[in-house]
Amino acid sequence: MTKINAPPPQHSTSQQTASFTRFDTSDLSPREIYKLLIGTVVPRPIAWVTTLSPDGVANAAPYSFFNCLSADPPILALGVENWADMSFKDTAYNIRMTEEFTVNIVSNALVEAMNVTATPFSSHIDELEKAGLTTAPGSLIQCPRIAEAPVAFECRRHVGISVGKSREIILGLVVAIHIRSNLVDRERFHVDQLALDAVGRMGGQGYALTRQLFDLPTMSVADWDAGNIPKRSVTSS
Ligand SMILES: Cc1cc2nc3c(=O)[nH]c(=O)nc-3n(C[C@H](O)[C@H](O)[C@H](O)COP(=O)(O)O)c2cc1C
Repeated sequence: MTKINAPPPQHSTSQQTASFTRFDTSDLSPREIYKLLIGTVVPRPIAWVTTLSPDGVANAAPYSFFNCLSADPPILALGVENWADMSFKDTAYNIRMTEEFTVNIVSNALVEAMNVTATPFSSHIDELEKAGLTTAPGSLIQCPRIAEAPVAFECRRHVGISVGKSREIILGLVVAIHIRSNLVDRERFHVDQLALDAVGRMGGQGYALTRQLFDLPTMSVADWDAGNIPKRSVTSS
């Protein structure tokens, strides 16, 4: 891939002297805090979570309160809210009952299918079927993955942290990783992120694409002292 130098965006004086609007979270409703958080912590990766109900019905739903929090041990985290009547979402219920789940990564081509699986269908409905998706069996867990998804992480429930009356953070231990072979160099463990074409979640109902990439190497202190300040290089546009 050709690398070209790209100028960094200019910081204007008005930005440096900008005033800030301060919010004290104790003055805000949970909904107001939610809107500020999801509007600013962006873009968020999306976990497209598949689970199996205790009766064996496959379930899928997107969760953007999601990230990888540790590589050793490999831990992924999901933030799941209850429904307004405090009942569990199918994802939370199924994970609690089966102690397994799979996180699939959403590529640009799959966003509309993902959106179908966000519909609050009742728990006996297979959302994957509704979205026209197919599943592939898990290798170490019973829970299937989405065959069309470019990446899937098979997880065993590690721990659930109840952080409020309607919110649980679920940590999953990754036991197997599936990556479409054309996306990964299996000797160097390098993933082609341009080809992965993952989608992120913005505020409201917004999404972001991830194909405007640039590199910016981290400096050593010696680089800094010597004035070797790296410049960003565009790897795609
Ligand atoms: C992109 C996207 C991200 C979402 N992120 C979350 C989230 O982080 N936490 C949550 O509780 N619901 C989230 N939702 C809503 C759930 O996907 C939705 O309530 C879904 O119907 C739950 O399905 P389930 O009952 O099958 O688990 C999100 C929806 C979308 C479209």
